[in-house]
Amino acid sequence: MPIEEKAAPKPAKLRVGIVGTGGIAHAHMKAYVEMDDVEIIGGSDIVPGKARKFLDEFGLTDVPDFEDNDKLFALKPDGVSVCTYNTTHHVCAVAAMEAGIHVLCEKPMSVTLDQAVQMARAQKATGKILTIGFQPRYDANMRMVKEIVRSGALGKVYYVQTGGGRRRGIPGGTFVNKEQAGVGCLADIGCYGLDMALNSVGYRKPVTVSAYASDLFGKNPKYFQGDFTVDDFTCALIRFDDGLVLDFRMSWAMHMDTMGDTLFLGTDAGLKVKSPNPHLNWGGAWDGSIGDVYLYSDVCGNQVETRVPLKSSEKRDNFAAKVRAFLDAVRDGGESPIPWQEIIYNQAIIDGIIRSSEARREVEVVIPEI
Ligand SMILES: NC(=O)c1ccc[n+]([C@@H]2O[C@H](COP(=O)([O-])OP(=O)(O)OC[C@H]3O[C@@H](n4cnc5c(N)ncnc54)[C@H](O)[C@@H]3O)[C@@H](O)[C@H]2O)c1
Repeated sequence: MPIEEKAAPKPAKLRVGIVGTGGIAHAHMKAYVEMDDVEIIGGSDIVPGKARKFLDEFGLTDVPDFEDNDKLFALKPDGVSVCTYNTTHHVCAVAAMEAGIHVLCEKPMSVTLDQAVQMARAQKATGKILTIGFQPRYDANMRMVKEIVRSGALGKVYYVQTGGGRRRGIPGGTFVNKEQAGVGCLADIGCYGLDMALNSVGYRKPVTVSAYASDLFGKNPKYFQGDFTVDDFTCALIRFDDGLVLDFRMSWAMHMDTMGDTLFLGTDAGLKVKSPNPHLNWGGAWDGSIGDVYLYSDVCGNQVETRVPLKSSEKRDNFAAKVRAFLDAVRDGGESPIPWQEIIYNQAIIDGIIRSSEARREVEVVIPEI
């Protein structure tokens, strides 16, 4: 008798929705539609017709569109990507979690610390997964930098400088509008610089921020045409509770190729991560790709500079990796891949930079009990 072949049970698909169907939602959707275990169940956008057009672009003509996120949430997706502009991340993420839905929220977490606290409290109260979309975390060389810094090879790290920045790289659209973006280059690419430095050295509590921010290029028609109501350059000195100091710089536009390399100074060795492509107008920001890496140390009394070989230059799809990490956590009931418990510090620094640059003095950072 032939043994009856039993088909292996097909795992149920993860039901996913997209909130905010603008630019970056396309990258989320591209990743989702390529995954076998995902079913897109809806999309929403406050702009009438925008979610419909977006879903149709992906051939999802039968998938419903909404202008009201609650109607999407009523379909009980397992997870949603929150791809709205920065000032509405907290509103959408909190509402989704309160409706029982896991959330992959685009970076930055929010604009203000207060908004991030609302998100963190909602996560704690609902137990849903909340992960923030920093895809450079999945880059092989970024992981290597973190591994070196965390290995202890540098000794005690007492100073970090995040460099980079764009020479001419002011984006348009909602990025330059304060009501929608909240902040400019600080939120757009600054949050990456902070994450890449602090994820490497280990997130810890910031206590003071002294910052400067300007809009001299965005407001100058020679360099940008249109309404510009955010920052295009920012720098700050951030002190942490254990004595670590972070020297942060970021720019969308300046008369310079780079604001410097990224440096980790330790008691036993130092690590330099060169700006990736400072000769390119958009290329110098530490927003995912990294340049050459050098380790500075003493060997038998000699001062040595060692070039650390980079991992394969083959481009991995870091964006797909961040979406997959979210889905795996949803499917397996796992931990948030990039949790608020880390990113709340990133957001507290951004909030401190906004307050300090407006007040033109150092400010304290106080993170409320979550
Ligand atoms: N990870 C990355 O590489 C990357 C790249 C670009 C942008 N981003 C981030 O993605 C977010 C969106 O950027 P974008 O370029 O797609 O902006 P966008 O303006 O093109 O799209 C945002 C969309 O959200 C919609 N929206 C706003 N509030 C809403 C609400 N309450 N409910 C439903 N829809 C709402 C808007 O109508 C718009 O269509 C930003 O936070 C940005 O920082 C991330």
